[in-house]
Amino acid sequence: MRILAIETSCDETAAAVVADGRQVESNVVSSQIDIHRATGGVVPEVAARLQLETIIPVIEQALEEAGAEWSGIDAIAVTAGPGLIGSLIVGVETAKSLALAKGKPLIPVNHLAGHLYACLAHEDPFRFPYLGLVVSGGHTELVLMPDHHQFELIGSTRDDAAGEAFDKVGKLLDLPYPGGPEISRLGAKGDRTAIAFPRPMLDQDNYDFSYSGLKTDVRREVAAKRLTAKRKADIAASFESAAVDVLVAKTTRAALEYAPSAVLLGGGVAANQLLRGRLQEALDQAGVRLLVTPPELATDNAAMIGLAAYWQHDEALTGSSRLSVSADPSAALSSPAGEPA
Ligand code: KG4
Ligand code: ZN
Repeated sequence: MRILAIETSCDETAAAVVADGRQVESNVVSSQIDIHRATGGVVPEVAARLQLETIIPVIEQALEEAGAEWSGIDAIAVTAGPGLIGSLIVGVETAKSLALAKGKPLIPVNHLAGHLYACLAHEDPFRFPYLGLVVSGGHTELVLMPDHHQFELIGSTRDDAAGEAFDKVGKLLDLPYPGGPEISRLGAKGDRTAIAFPRPMLDQDNYDFSYSGLKTDVRREVAAKRLTAKRKADIAASFESAAVDVLVAKTTRAALEYAPSAVLLGGGVAANQLLRGRLQEALDQAGVRLLVTPPELATDNAAMIGLAAYWQHDEALTGSSRLSVSADPSAALSSPAGEPA
């Protein structure tokens, strides 16, 4: 089964062709990073307008790179939420129009499910349950996955998402947008023990996270003394270490409690080497496998939506039910995508 997948939940315009939930035949991502760099972040109206201009060429390129004709496409999958409303609408309405015009079933997919399935591209056979950690610009969620497309939320952020904290600290340190990769690069050169930032909520008996206090501490540290290149690197290194430690400790604790067959690490922040390394070490000690998203599928892309969609293709919509799919900016992982939480 060959699925054409479309993803426009934030500032990317992406399309991919995925066969049988495993083979990524093409994966085209048109990024707007250069444009949003000028404004230091994503301006939603600008993102949606650019997506409207690029969505059709991106889909055509994904088909061409896969060597696929419309006749060889069995279904169309699209991210229905969560994400920016204007951006989601571009993808959802395009997918609906194409599904009707080309006579294809339509599969609405949850963006966070996509991040988790990106970790499972090479898992064969599946061994449920999994424990998933989704860390992105908009989410920090720890979920239990007892079966395909079943998710039980066991913890999430109380305020900022992990990626959001990286991006805000990047801004405080005058680094280009997005801050995550920049902090990592700079942090690798700094002293991780230079500043003893707190590990928020580490000792609390729950699986929730909080990043806004840590961000305030970084702001205070930045204002305290002159920001030399060395101090900048030390702040980045110490912040990264604190942010990562809490994710690793809580995820490992949950892995010991729920005994999953593996932990899945997905979302843009899964590209972070310190997080990957420390989580691998902790899970090795706990005797639990770690399945990390391949780097090319870590930040937003449509291949992950095609991978996730395959495992829910028996719920694909046909006929006029395809018209009922709508963008849902706050879609929860634990309820079916496209339906209210
Ligand atoms: O999943 P994603 O592409 O978009 C959302 O769904 O939000 O995640 C983007 C986030 C951004 O906050 C970005 O700074 C962060 O992922 N990110 C990183 C790294 N690469 C991307 N954060 C830390 N370290 C990285 N290497
Ligand atoms: Zn994402």
